[in-house]
Amino acid sequence: MGEILKNKHIILGITGSIAAYKAAYLIRALVKKGAEVQVVITPAGKEFITPLTLSTLSSHPVISEFFSNRDGTWNSHVDLGLWADAMLIAPATASTIGKMANGIADNMLITTYLSCKAPVFVAPAMDLDMFAHPSTQQNLDRLRSFGNHIIEPTSGELASHLVGKGRMEEPDQIVAVLETYFSTQSQLEKKKIVITAGPTYEKIDPVRFIGNYSSGKMGFALAETCAQQGAEVTLIAGPVALKTNHPNIKRIDVESAEEMYQAAIKAFPESDAAILCAAVADYRPEVQASDKIKRETEGEMTLHLVPNKDIAASLGAIKRDNQILVGFALETNNETVHAIGKLKRKKLDFIVLNSLRDAGAGFRCDTNKITIIDKKGHETVYPLKSKQKVAEDIVNQLASSLK
Ligand code: PMT
Repeated sequence: MGEILKNKHIILGITGSIAAYKAAYLIRALVKKGAEVQVVITPAGKEFITPLTLSTLSSHPVISEFFSNRDGTWNSHVDLGLWADAMLIAPATASTIGKMANGIADNMLITTYLSCKAPVFVAPAMDLDMFAHPSTQQNLDRLRSFGNHIIEPTSGELASHLVGKGRMEEPDQIVAVLETYFSTQSQLEKKKIVITAGPTYEKIDPVRFIGNYSSGKMGFALAETCAQQGAEVTLIAGPVALKTNHPNIKRIDVESAEEMYQAAIKAFPESDAAILCAAVADYRPEVQASDKIKRETEGEMTLHLVPNKDIAASLGAIKRDNQILVGFALETNNETVHAIGKLKRKKLDFIVLNSLRDAGAGFRCDTNKITIIDKKGHETVYPLKSKQKVAEDIVNQLASSLK
């Protein structure tokens, strides 16, 4: 990522959490990368780390009050908001997150946030129960719906000595999130991306269907990640219990493979790329009974199945040279051979292979383990990661393909 943060103006918002000590490491890491850091700290934040430490590391006076204590000059949150290339709030307490979500502008950090035109990154830090509370989660969803980037906390021992999710992400990882953002943003900004996600349901009768275990988590993580990088996403979703937050995501809900095909074939010609993550049923019953099939009257039964259209292959057939097509391969054996076969048959630019033989990969879970294979045959193997992080790896690959 080399020089990607060089000369970037970063506002670092620090709030009242024990994790505030990590802000010192964060400033050092950002400054080392060539970024200019302006700290804005809440009154509670100053209880955990001294402004002297922060101003020494950042080489800028720390801003906390609306007026300078020294000479009464006004600290303009508007000017700060315009100066910034990014605002990072790390650590972000439940209280600050709540104020951000509801526009409670009672300190310099929140007024700066409300004036900021640059992308905003929020790294929560709190006790596990506070983090899990519906109030915190709803406030975080609200921030996501404003287009803010939430840097998920990790699990581990907390200041309370309880163990769970709520530890602020490590400074190096936070810096990596910013680097990834700035390196892929220029590639994805305003790009139109179609994403398919979730399963399809193929009706047998009014109460039964053929389906699969896809939860939509992988595809929805991809949609959020692309939207956060500035892309305009059309998310074609099969029946899933997930919600979307980002304003850049246009969601089209479908049920069957045919409906997904119709939506994809309509959206693709106007798009720069498509990522086909849905687990599309390959077959559907030839006949759909209009009334519930009765066991008593039918006895043994045979379903005659006919093939559905292959969405990936159909898009591959109409793809222009300046469009990128990404597919998935969900395999259980001979993984690489099958994945390469699909990559070629469907005319994909790269394929994301996940295998049900890997623990924690594939359907339903919050993690995945992937290998990306491009059309030149290069393979990149990734370790097991959260689906959020896997989505970032896939979007990075997409960004370099779009270059
Ligand atoms: O939703 P989750 O629970 O998070 O699980 C994620 C996932 C396992 C569903 C996802 O990671 C994944 O692997 N998606 C693709 C599943 C699949 O159907 O793979 P496939 O190998 O059968 O299909 C190959 C490719 O062709 C896929 O890009 C698929 O979307 C596409 N396809 C398949 C059939 C069809 N009729 N039309 C298609 O476009």
